[in-house]
Amino acid sequence: MKWKNPLSNSVQRLEGIDNRSQKEAVADRIANRVNDGDVIGVGSGSTSFLAIQAIGKHVQEDQLKITAIPTSREAALNCSALGIPVTDLMHARPDWAFDGADEVDPDNNLIKGRGGAMYVEKLVLTSSPENYILVDESKFVQQLGSKFSIPLEIDPQAIHVVDSSLERMAAEKVELRNAEGKDGPVITDSGNFILDVQFRIIEDTLEKELKSIPGVIESGLFIKYPVEVISG
Ligand code: A5P
Repeated sequence: MKWKNPLSNSVQRLEGIDNRSQKEAVADRIANRVNDGDVIGVGSGSTSFLAIQAIGKHVQEDQLKITAIPTSREAALNCSALGIPVTDLMHARPDWAFDGADEVDPDNNLIKGRGGAMYVEKLVLTSSPENYILVDESKFVQQLGSKFSIPLEIDPQAIHVVDSSLERMAAEKVELRNAEGKDGPVITDSGNFILDVQFRIIEDTLEKELKSIPGVIESGLFIKYPVEVISG
């Protein structure tokens, strides 16, 4: 039986999407990549939101059957509203996956996590044999960290353990990400806090060093992952 209440069939509107025409162009390109029977890792953020919508349209027009593995509750809600069935990594592996990014350097290293979904985004990306990163031109940087801090998802009880470790690693700035629409910190889909961290230089080894701090669940640094970057 299907839900018929208003929220069940309305996508989560993300107002004021910047560089919208470029994002729509990459969304259309990725929608054409869909084949009947695909299990697709579905990313988070505004570009992925437009891609899910384009895929939903394509699936309906061509009567395709696909299954999504969403990287966030935002993505899961949108798949649900579009009638796209969802599963998770415990039950299926993606044939391919798409996602957005906040920064892309000349070697396709990434910073992700503006939307706070980098933990599951990294799980889905590492599970998938093919990964497409959908970006507009504003995402390209010469050096990671030029525009965005590195988000760290941390166990809330480890906040001072992690902050002390980051101080020893000479982090230049550490901020607890605060929520909008709620007092206090952002709580991730997995119930954790996010620290936004700046370093003067981001070495290739930093992703592993951050992950080795007790209490760090995951970082938004994606160094040397085999991804194909598609830009609008
Ligand atoms: C979500 O946590 C992020 O990793 C997004 O994928 C990233 O912020 C891209 O978002 P936009 O497509 O909205 O720029």
